[in-house]
Amino acid sequence: MSTGKLVVGVTGASGAIYAQRFLIQAAQKFEKIYLILSEQATQVSLQELGVAPKVNPFYSQEWLGAEYPNIELLDRKDYFTPPASGSFRHDGMVIVPCSMGTAGRIAHGISDDLLTRCADVCLKEGRRLIVVPREMPMNTIMLRNLTTLSEVGATVIPAAPAWYSRPKTLEELADTVVARILQNLGVEQDLMKQWMVER
Ligand SMILES: Cc1cc2nc3c(=O)[nH]c(=O)nc-3n(C[C@H](O)[C@H](O)[C@H](O)COP(=O)(O)O)c2cc1C
Repeated sequence: MSTGKLVVGVTGASGAIYAQRFLIQAAQKFEKIYLILSEQATQVSLQELGVAPKVNPFYSQEWLGAEYPNIELLDRKDYFTPPASGSFRHDGMVIVPCSMGTAGRIAHGISDDLLTRCADVCLKEGRRLIVVPREMPMNTIMLRNLTTLSEVGATVIPAAPAWYSRPKTLEELADTVVARILQNLGVEQDLMKQWMVER
């Protein structure tokens, strides 16, 4: 049964646009988003988008183009927050984009901050965990870590956009990945139509 609550982690892999586009969609589809940013996520967003999320207090207008009061930013060092515990029910967690460092820490059970702890909780509770990794090329350690995550129940959706819908803007290109994340969460989306199916 859906709780309408989603945990979203954003790390310092390249692809801040995926986080931006996904959060805009997720904020409209879920009642509540618990957002956790790694320290590097802010730096990469600034580098790639020229804008970083405002924190203390969290303010999404500049970063996401509108204010979404249902997005709550959690302190990544604060474990006194609902998703840190398996007792809290939610619809799962999406880590977008997911750095190789974060993927490796999760694959090896190193829950050293709230983001990796929440992922750990999803895996131990059998909840949906979607990771959107980005790196190229990948070494064998990275590939093994992603395989481990897949083996223990996470869904790996690489930040590898599709071209067959002929996206015309960077946003449309990024949305081909965002659409797959939403689809995997079981959420209706109209960013990308089904292949060979009329709308
Ligand atoms: C501009 C920029 C782009 C980066 N791109 C990637 C990337 O695509 N994948 C990756 O795994 N790390 C990338 N990194 C390195 C990560 O930010 C770094 O490994 C960091 O420790 C990850 O920490 P986090 O997982 O806590 O966010 C990038 C760093 C910068 C500054």
